[in-house]
Amino acid sequence: MNEVLKAIKSRRSLRKYRPEQIKQEELNMIIEAGIYAPSGHNSQPWHFTIVQDRKVIEHINDISKKIMATMEIEWIKNLGLDPDFDVTYKAPTLVVVSGKKDVPSSEIDCCAAVQNMLLAAESLDIGSVWLGFVIFGIKNQEEAKKLNVPEGYEPYYAFVLGYKEKDSYPDVPSRNYDVVNYIR
Ligand SMILES: Cc1cc2nc3c(=O)[nH]c(=O)nc-3n(C[C@H](O)[C@H](O)[C@H](O)COP(=O)(O)O)c2cc1C
Repeated sequence: MNEVLKAIKSRRSLRKYRPEQIKQEELNMIIEAGIYAPSGHNSQPWHFTIVQDRKVIEHINDISKKIMATMEIEWIKNLGLDPDFDVTYKAPTLVVVSGKKDVPSSEIDCCAAVQNMLLAAESLDIGSVWLGFVIFGIKNQEEAKKLNVPEGYEPYYAFVLGYKEKDSYPDVPSRNYDVVNYIR
């Protein structure tokens, strides 16, 4: 199997990380993979905020969980109320992906960038998990301002990065292959 297909199949959402920070050279390669994502009309409407300050990551965890705890969807509410649940899984690097509000394909382009970065991370043997919950906390304009998200951009998604904790690699969640039709 070639290296790209190998990375696609071996990437897993990792929820346990070693505490040490990843190397700047590795992070640079991951960010560049995001910058090379396709985008509608080559708009490149993304902005990446790299958060490596433990206190800021913990604050984002707290505000996200507070909002989750008020939600009607039972399983999300329960996670918000669970004192042991950490939305960022104590990973050392959090990447917030914001997109230009006035670009029609902005959110889709940002998703393409996220996936490129997760695959780049896997190719470097760095763990990652795409995070939707974190956005509950940082969608708030005041919080986005604290992260220096540029004017005219909105945080869409986030993910964390970190070295994989040994023996913590999750099983592959089952895949449904019955999702294809052919017109020939
Ligand atoms: C848009 C999106 C949001 C997600 N949000 C979270 C999240 O907040 N927390 C989490 O642990 N996993 C999150 N995930 C990861 C999914 O649970 C995971 O991709 C899925 O279970 C398949 O597992 P795999 O990534 O190991 O293949 C998210 C994935 C996507 C695409």
